[in-house]
Amino acid sequence: MQKIHAAITAVGGYVPDYVLTNAELEKMVDTTDEWIQSRTGIKERHILKGEGLGTSDMGTEAVKVLLEKRGISPLDIELVICATTTPDMQFPATANVICDKAGMKNAFGYDINAACSGFLYALTTGAQYIETGRCKKVIVVGGDKMSSIVDYTDRATCIIFGDGAGAVLLEPNDEGYGIQDSILRSDGSGRIHLHQKAGGSVKPASMETVMNKEHYIYQEGQPVFKFAVKNMADVSAEIMERNGLTGDDVAWLVPHQANKRIISATADRMNLSEDKVMINIDRYGNTTNGTLPLCLWEWQKRLHKGDNIILAAFGGGFTWGAIYLKWAYES
Ligand code: UT7
Repeated sequence: MQKIHAAITAVGGYVPDYVLTNAELEKMVDTTDEWIQSRTGIKERHILKGEGLGTSDMGTEAVKVLLEKRGISPLDIELVICATTTPDMQFPATANVICDKAGMKNAFGYDINAACSGFLYALTTGAQYIETGRCKKVIVVGGDKMSSIVDYTDRATCIIFGDGAGAVLLEPNDEGYGIQDSILRSDGSGRIHLHQKAGGSVKPASMETVMNKEHYIYQEGQPVFKFAVKNMADVSAEIMERNGLTGDDVAWLVPHQANKRIISATADRMNLSEDKVMINIDRYGNTTNGTLPLCLWEWQKRLHKGDNIILAAFGGGFTWGAIYLKWAYES
């Protein structure tokens, strides 16, 4: 009997309407469109505006798109895993809120926080439930409202991030399609370069932490960049090598969208031309856990059954990794 693989069988995505352009950022901080585009590849990003709206609202929209596309009821879903770094609240899990808002009343759910690599961690975790036969329908959501933790007076970070969410449905496949392999890595010593200083149990939020802007993203761009270039390229090359794949065998690279230069370095290492690389950083910026599923959502019409696809990411933690999958359907 063929091994059961976890296959992606539908994709949904959502980005909010409001577009924050580089021109607008030029009026907010000391920056230029030329600097932002040449250093990051970003032209604009989407921002979730509106009182009381959070990551779950974008995740719910992505899930609704996915359910409609697959033509199934929310009641069919058994598990929802949400990868996010900006949960609606410290607790309960944003996955639980998404289940409630999308009517997935038979599902259990939980969140995974692995910063920008969260979607890879969540997809790997969700796949285990399918491969073991524990579940038949699992939804993995990746999304962030990064604007909720961005300091819009800090030019080094506010130009990078955007809001958005994507979702994929995992189902069993016994024809050899679906997730083939996954490499996940972390190194907690890298936390000093990228973190949120206050609001957790080490330093609970107070008047002082808010005054000191410690509830915003703290990032040392250069060391993060250096680690990202090396590790994202290394892990992508490693997953190709151990699965006997060359650049010619790979149909698509789905890279985390943190910086166009990091994406290009990874593609070069994999011997891939740019036409095989999904890039939407120019329009969405870095949506953290949203980047990978949003790429799949946008590119799904161009994907074919049997395509070899590599997903790769690097982010806060540090965390990084890669997944190799065979696309399972024609759109
Ligand atoms: O997804 C999570 C993981 N995160 C990442 O992968 C991000 C990795 N890091 C990066 O993508 C890049 O380091 C950044 C885009 C954040 C920064 O680009 P950089 O080329 O590394 O710039 P830098 O930090 O070395 O700064 C170079 C100069 C500095 O000025 P001086 O000291 O040379 O005078 C900065 O103050 O650019 C200045 N600068 C800016 N200038 C105009 C920094 N931000 C800006 C800005 N506009 N927005």
